[in-house]
Amino acid sequence: MQLLKYDVIILGSGIGGFTTAIHSSNLNKKAKIAIISKLHAMRSHSVSAEGGISGVLYPEINKDSEKLHAYDTIKGSDYLSDQDAVELLVKNAPKEIVFFEHLGVPWNRDQKGIIQERPFGGMSIPRTAFAADKTGFFMMRSLYDQVQSLPNVDIFHENFATKILRTKDAVGVFIIDLATGKHKVIYGSSLVIATGGFSRVYKITTTSHSTTGDGIALAYNAGASLKDVEFVQFHPTALVPNGILITEAARGEGGYLLNKDNERFMKRYASSKMELAPRDIISRAIITEINEGRGMKDPSSGLEYVYLDLRHLGKEIINKKLPMIKEICIKTIGLNPEEEPIPVRPAAHFTMGGINTDIDGRVLDIELNHINNLWAVGECGCVSVHGANRLGSNSLSQCSVWGRVVGKEVSKNTHDIKHDDLKELEKLAEEEELRLNVLFDKKGMYTAYELEDEMREVMEKHFYVYRNEKEMKKGLDILEKLLKKSTNLRIQDKSNIFNTNLRDTLEFINQIELAHAVAVAALNRKESRGAHSRTDYPKRDDRVWLKHTILAKDGSGIKINYSDVKITKWKPEERKY
Ligand code: SIN
Repeated sequence: MQLLKYDVIILGSGIGGFTTAIHSSNLNKKAKIAIISKLHAMRSHSVSAEGGISGVLYPEINKDSEKLHAYDTIKGSDYLSDQDAVELLVKNAPKEIVFFEHLGVPWNRDQKGIIQERPFGGMSIPRTAFAADKTGFFMMRSLYDQVQSLPNVDIFHENFATKILRTKDAVGVFIIDLATGKHKVIYGSSLVIATGGFSRVYKITTTSHSTTGDGIALAYNAGASLKDVEFVQFHPTALVPNGILITEAARGEGGYLLNKDNERFMKRYASSKMELAPRDIISRAIITEINEGRGMKDPSSGLEYVYLDLRHLGKEIINKKLPMIKEICIKTIGLNPEEEPIPVRPAAHFTMGGINTDIDGRVLDIELNHINNLWAVGECGCVSVHGANRLGSNSLSQCSVWGRVVGKEVSKNTHDIKHDDLKELEKLAEEEELRLNVLFDKKGMYTAYELEDEMREVMEKHFYVYRNEKEMKKGLDILEKLLKKSTNLRIQDKSNIFNTNLRDTLEFINQIELAHAVAVAALNRKESRGAHSRTDYPKRDDRVWLKHTILAKDGSGIKINYSDVKITKWKPEERKY
């Protein structure tokens, strides 16, 4: 088995991973940095980000302020975000937009050359910079060019990490090189997890097939705690029937949501914000319309939906600002949004919770102690800026701001690896190799594919926009059975070259653990807050539940703890839009 020594290891190659690499490389030219991606790095899910990145760019022109951005974010989060982290986000987000400008992102501009900002849900003022509706793609392209020019950074494309190996002073990752099936260990002094969220545990999601939460599961198995995983964001406007994201920018540019009576129903749910209310509120509104018989049904999939109408925006706006949305609709369902309204419904989109970190991105255990040499950045980490409901376009800012924070941290954490640590890493690697060999050879009863379908059905049915105890208990019961069955799997493909059957099986094992954690956390939280909306506890309960849920593995079970929400300036109040 190959053992490769680096100083900084970054698992994941989206915006969080790439920005961490660039900043740590710039601050420590001697550090050897490895980026590991299970895909070709440019296929990371960040390329799919559409609508834009938030940040206060022109306070003197539009009377915006960091304070207002912070307030919107905290109110949007239903007061579960840590306010110190939000203050850090809003203070630094504008700099990051300028940083990307310097890297070459072609931000949309007005005729005076000023970067345009578009309205997004829950934001008081338009403050989302964008590059048409392909913002993530342009950011990733610029980052990838930059990373490739750095002499101290190596990218390991299509290398799948199966385990985090930890000793007192060293950290490593066990990897399967997908192209050859060969195993290797990359080890060093700092590991940054930047692998994105786990929306794929749901049946219908706006996210790519790769968003299986691997890094979160690896951290969880390495002793990290998870925070607030019950809060899964359902994006209100996923295309029916395939779930592809129809960006919130479509509503930011003026799109309407209509029910079957052609009524702009948002007036009943958020009369001042209408289609630009936060996502949790719009998703609930859509499902309420459907439940009360004012939706429509797609005959082939049986999915119920409402309409997103862009026709009145006209061809020029659609072609200039939403060209990809038009292309997606035409190419995937044969519908031209210039001529017909788009069928949409809420779908899993973002993981508000994740690996529990402090404000510097350092990973914490269930007692809130730092785990040596481990950081998390981006959607996989929960630094608590989004709380119970993220505002659209705050995620790209979060990835960029904490990519810089964590890049700085790890640039300072480089040290030699002692002989004893290396020996211990080797031993842990041998154990992992044995586990994988057993899994590979096992003649188990189930394939990951059959169990995965069931898991996704359960999540969609029992842990969707509206939840209640009875349904969640039923769902948890099935997930527990699936978790047991996941120890009895068989891999049919016995080849070494690009064995996607092996990869899918490992991804499923990660996902079922995370689906189980979501279910436990959701059942445990007996209130409604943000995206966690319970019909049996319909109100927010600050007296008991103004706290973060912290979970950690406890043998084959889960233990639960809580931590305080950091309130700096904004006292919780009722959310009205
Ligand atoms: C969107 O464009 O609607 C998604 C952007 C985000 O989730 O922030």
